[in-house]
Amino acid sequence: MPHRQKLKLGVLVSGNGTNLQAIIEACEEGHIDARVDVVISNNPDAFALERAKKHNIATAVVSKENSESKIIEILKQHQVELVCLAGFMKLLSTQFVREFPQKIINIHPALLPSFPGLHAQQRALDAGVKFTGATVHFVDEGCDTGPIIVQATVPVLHDDTIETLKERILKEEHKIYPEAIQLIATQRLKIVGRRVIFA
Ligand code: GRF
Repeated sequence: MPHRQKLKLGVLVSGNGTNLQAIIEACEEGHIDARVDVVISNNPDAFALERAKKHNIATAVVSKENSESKIIEILKQHQVELVCLAGFMKLLSTQFVREFPQKIINIHPALLPSFPGLHAQQRALDAGVKFTGATVHFVDEGCDTGPIIVQATVPVLHDDTIETLKERILKEEHKIYPEAIQLIATQRLKIVGRRVIFA
């Protein structure tokens, strides 16, 4: 099989890092043509950092002022080709987004454009929807508003608690995030207006 060039990823995290873990495993198991070159956290206590270290991936903690310019510097040092937000709990500035045009993606625990922003699972539960899900989308200058790449639906069950619903959604997140990365790595996507078209 011809050896494909691997897409160089920089993953931005703030917390547990289960999506990071799913991406690392998909890379290591050869399911996607990508590799995680650096993991950057704005939270020094993020467990995601431990996960990265365990796989010998470079890590950085950037939690002070001017953090965005530092993050940009690190991503450029590592020649990152795709920036993946994976539970990164900070909104990126317009300037940051413009540094990496169409090269930043995010995972959100709802079927966008429903329930953008924080507490998406709780809000879905409170709203009484029968289905919610997960979305991987390109990041634009708004909050969870960029073109949608992949979505997965998840049923909301009558006896769901926030924990059971979160867990059911996370399972889907761990499938669709690597899937979306692979679509980008193999250059099968085209953004046409707000729509992402598969070639
Ligand atoms: C996920 O639910 C993701 O959709 C949201 O933040 C959470 C991160 O979880 N953006 P983890 O750190 O990947 O476990």
